[in-house]
Amino acid sequence: MARNFLSFASIVVLLPFVSAQLDIFAQLAGKKYFGTATDNPELTNASYVKQLENVLDFHQLTPANSMKWENTEPTQGNFTFAGGDQIVEQAEKHGQIMRGHNCVWHQQLADWVTDGNFTKPELLAIVENHCGTLVRHYRGKMYSWDVINECLNDDGTFRESIFFNTTGTDYIGVALRTARAADPHAKLYINDFNIEGQGAKSTAMINLVKSLQKEGVPIDGIGVQSHLIVGEVPSTMEQNLRDFAALGVEVAITELDIRMNLPATPALLQQQKEDYTTVITACQNVPECIGVTLWDWTDKFSWVPGTFAGQGAACPWDENFVKKPAYAGIIEGWLERQ
Ligand SMILES: *[C@@H]1O[C@H](CO)[C@@H](O)[C@H](O)[C@H]1NC(C)=O
Ligand SMILES: *[C@@H]1O[C@H](CO)[C@@H](O)[C@H](O)[C@H]1NC(C)=O
Ligand SMILES: *[C@@H]1O[C@H](CO)[C@@H](O)[C@H](O)[C@H]1NC(C)=O
Ligand SMILES: *[C@@H]1O[C@H](CO)[C@@H](O)[C@H](O)[C@H]1NC(C)=O
Repeated sequence: MARNFLSFASIVVLLPFVSAQLDIFAQLAGKKYFGTATDNPELTNASYVKQLENVLDFHQLTPANSMKWENTEPTQGNFTFAGGDQIVEQAEKHGQIMRGHNCVWHQQLADWVTDGNFTKPELLAIVENHCGTLVRHYRGKMYSWDVINECLNDDGTFRESIFFNTTGTDYIGVALRTARAADPHAKLYINDFNIEGQGAKSTAMINLVKSLQKEGVPIDGIGVQSHLIVGEVPSTMEQNLRDFAALGVEVAITELDIRMNLPATPALLQQQKEDYTTVITACQNVPECIGVTLWDWTDKFSWVPGTFAGQGAACPWDENFVKKPAYAGIIEGWLERQ
């Protein structure tokens, strides 16, 4: 295939001589990056940082928390970028590209936004100032931004956040237009969960993107978070990515992890390996799927146990930074052919 700089045959010939590495194989499959989320407190663990800096596995970083609203505009007009800047500096040291995350989300939002009794014009001005200032601060440094995060309910209706309740869907266009003006080269995404397979929420995402396109609102990509459950990867995932790509936007797997009920057993770890392969194969087979990001690479720093009681072991490396079968499952996904 023209988009690959090595043929599939030569990869197979070279395979015994290279140790498997996630980004190398993603790039051989024609993708822009394989990457991972990371968070500021984790950067104090030297052996964690050593693997985070392994560019053969990770060519892209996403800040898990430090660019969210509560951390970047904790009081009105008071912008604090130190945490986000640290992640960008960490990435720049090793030539890793960045996904910005995020401008507008109903969680980890500063209380002053929710509690301010703002009118519609006031809140739209607040969204404009927040997204504009945040995206402008990182102008030229981001491959993409999750401008809108989780604006839909599972049934396909709009989430009744403070933004929707006060402005309807107007905040979405304001945020996207503002982000475009603030950094014209960053790809602008809407990011959500439970849009991995076909269904009401994915259809709603398609309709939202179509309506934005009709209104001339800039939208470049759909972020498919992919917080999945072992044994439950939707069978329609690849077709769903194709449905999104048919809108003329790129797609990315933005927050991949695949959790299980603890304790992890060999059978669950084997199923998890197959599930990672399935997800990566879906991205591999859809040219517009431009990259994959893990929602951190080690179980030590996974958000899963803190959010889903009794579940965990969702990442490709365990708590001691030892690779699980899932690691080889990702490589196998990149080697699957259409
Ligand atoms: C801005 O926010 C930071 C972090 O919460 C805080 O330490 C600082 O006092 C705030 N400054 C103003 C002027 O509100
Ligand atoms: C918002 O309105 C509520 C109810 O009227 C009131 O209790 C609260 O003090 C108001 N908050 C602000 C910041 O004005
Ligand atoms: C938005 O409105 C709905 C319906 O009235 C309400 O249940 C919900 O609490 C509101 N959300 C916020 C963040 O105000
Ligand atoms: C970093 O994490 C590893 C793996 O869990 C652990 O063994 C090590 O003690 C940690 N190092 C620090 C400095 O916390």
